[in-house]
Amino acid sequence: MKVAVYPGSFDPITLGHMDVILRSAAVFEKVVVAVLKNVDKKGLFSIEERVEMIQKLVQKYDNIEVVSFEGLLVDFMKSIDAHVIVKGLRVGLDFDYELQMAHMNRKLSEERVETVLMMASTEYSYISSSSVREILHFKGDIREFVPEEIVDDIYQKVGIVLEGMCNERKL
Ligand code: PNS
Repeated sequence: MKVAVYPGSFDPITLGHMDVILRSAAVFEKVVVAVLKNVDKKGLFSIEERVEMIQKLVQKYDNIEVVSFEGLLVDFMKSIDAHVIVKGLRVGLDFDYELQMAHMNRKLSEERVETVLMMASTEYSYISSSSVREILHFKGDIREFVPEEIVDDIYQKVGIVLEGMCNERKL
């Protein structure tokens, strides 16, 4: 079975991530969304919250699984016998970083792991989790950037009640 692993921090998942997940699920037999437990970096959302939000979004797809992992990605890939990493490419700036990571992961895995880059759909190419976190910090509107099924969950988790949107959104 051709399994693709889509790794990331997903703090939080965005429309851009979802686009890559769903398009990958149409290309590979199975997609494993792998959420990094980064011991050095405390995120806005806990690992459990991130996994839970992604699970809510992909539960209707039989060939998409969500897990968390720690340590090296290639070690996690070996543990599930997967050989393909999928990464999204938004703008040219992403390319140098992804190129380096792809070579690094190939070398670390003794050439058993390949990286496939999927071009982000143009309408999502400017979206990043860090921008979403910044908007949340200033209590702004994230509805254009994250899947609508988890907008309320996100606002609740960060304890935001958007006054201007209260009536309209019943938050
Ligand atoms: O969403 P992100 O934060 O850009 O994702 C980065 C991620 C999780 C793909 C990357 O940091 C990663 O694979 N981390 C695990 C450690 C590892 O294997 N690093 C590569 C060798 S240096």
